[in-house]
Amino acid sequence: ELPFSESYKIKMVERIRRSTREQREKWIKEAHYNLFQLKAEYVFIDLLTDSGTGAMSDKQWSALMLGDESYAGASSYYNMKKAIKDILGFDYFLPTHQGRAAENVLFSTILKEGDVVPGNSHFDTTKGHIEFRKCQAPDCTIDEAADTQLEIPFKGNMDPDKLEKILKETPIEKVPCVVLTVTNNTAGGQPVSMKNIKEISAICKKYNVPLMMDSARFAENAYFIKTREDGYKDKTIKEIVKEMYQYADIMTMSSKKDAIVNMGGFVAFKSEELWRKCQMFCIMNEGYITYGGMSGRDMNALAQGLDEGTEFDTLETRIHQVEYLGKKLDEYGIPYQRPAGGHAIFLDAKKILTHVPKEEFIAQTLGVELYLEAGIRGVEIGSILADRDPVTRENRYPKLELLRLAIPRRTYTDNHMDVIAAAVKNVYDRRESITKGYVITAELPVMRHFTVQLEKA
Ligand code: F0G
Repeated sequence: ELPFSESYKIKMVERIRRSTREQREKWIKEAHYNLFQLKAEYVFIDLLTDSGTGAMSDKQWSALMLGDESYAGASSYYNMKKAIKDILGFDYFLPTHQGRAAENVLFSTILKEGDVVPGNSHFDTTKGHIEFRKCQAPDCTIDEAADTQLEIPFKGNMDPDKLEKILKETPIEKVPCVVLTVTNNTAGGQPVSMKNIKEISAICKKYNVPLMMDSARFAENAYFIKTREDGYKDKTIKEIVKEMYQYADIMTMSSKKDAIVNMGGFVAFKSEELWRKCQMFCIMNEGYITYGGMSGRDMNALAQGLDEGTEFDTLETRIHQVEYLGKKLDEYGIPYQRPAGGHAIFLDAKKILTHVPKEEFIAQTLGVELYLEAGIRGVEIGSILADRDPVTRENRYPKLELLRLAIPRRTYTDNHMDVIAAAVKNVYDRRESITKGYVITAELPVMRHFTVQLEKA
């Protein structure tokens, strides 16, 4: 058998820059030890996010040229509508400029103060939109997800008992929807099984609560169903995707991930009535209902990307690369959320930097160290991201302190993965000498991680 190789060849390249440790020390200090505040040109390998950072295909670039920029009723809108119907099975949708805008349009319409929106590790903007409206976002992720060394195939699942307990105890008019995130980004890019989707959907039906699927990485989720769940081996990704969405009433999508565009998103509905209700906030905040914050060309590229992103070989190439990085880290004995996620490796910072106190932000400290080591930029998924409790204003310390290394789609090569693994190993080898972290000097009231300022503890 021949070795594995990518399902594409490269037509255009972009230069990236190396730097010295001395330069990086200066730059990260100027950025107040916040990786978001760094100039991108100061980064060698950028693993901040896999969102909007993928490489579009030649077909997507061609689709851009055919974009129809008419204000209303553009052909690009109908291309996007057809892709959403054919691939996902939804009749109604509103384009938005990205995923959080889809959340804004939906939640502005269906949430009121005091509501409860259970989920499986809501993404930070999703939780932000819920809590900002003085609603609660209880986490119903399975307990196993908090044990990084436990290797189970569907670590992103929602715990049906936790969900049912909330639905039993809450007046049902206070639960406008349940959010199932596929894959579960915050728990480590871990998938949700079809079995779990069915179970959660059945509970939602029993209590008459709509099921919303946060679908940024739905295609990666389908790949894991195909490769890990009994009965799906011989189904195509598109067949699996169709089946997944039979169970959803609403979906929001940040299309910057699995539709491989640099910008764009949408909210889709099975209910015509809800689609009509949401139109108002779309028009007010995003744009008219046939473009909602997107250019015609971007809608065209998105439609093409949905098709490519749900092809098996695209997903196999991508997920294989993330697994490749995971295997390298295994060789060096470095602890991360196991198994490797769809879009990223999540380093277990608590297990690596055992001397840094949690009050000094363990995962953030690891992120700064990795940047200093090799100019590699990850992102903290720990207590800075977890923010303060909206009521007590105390820092929240989640069970896990993770440093996410998100791999952009079709962007870096396996040689880059080797560099990342070697850099992580170097930090790991000197972990005993890292005893101090960082303290906050300035922060915003919601979603502080983007702009927080820190200094050495
Ligand atoms: N839902 C999930 C699961 C996400 O991962 C994201 C974004 C969003 C919603 C919001 O979408 O960025 O288009 O507004 N995640 C990015 C990340 C930013 O780095 O994980 P957006």
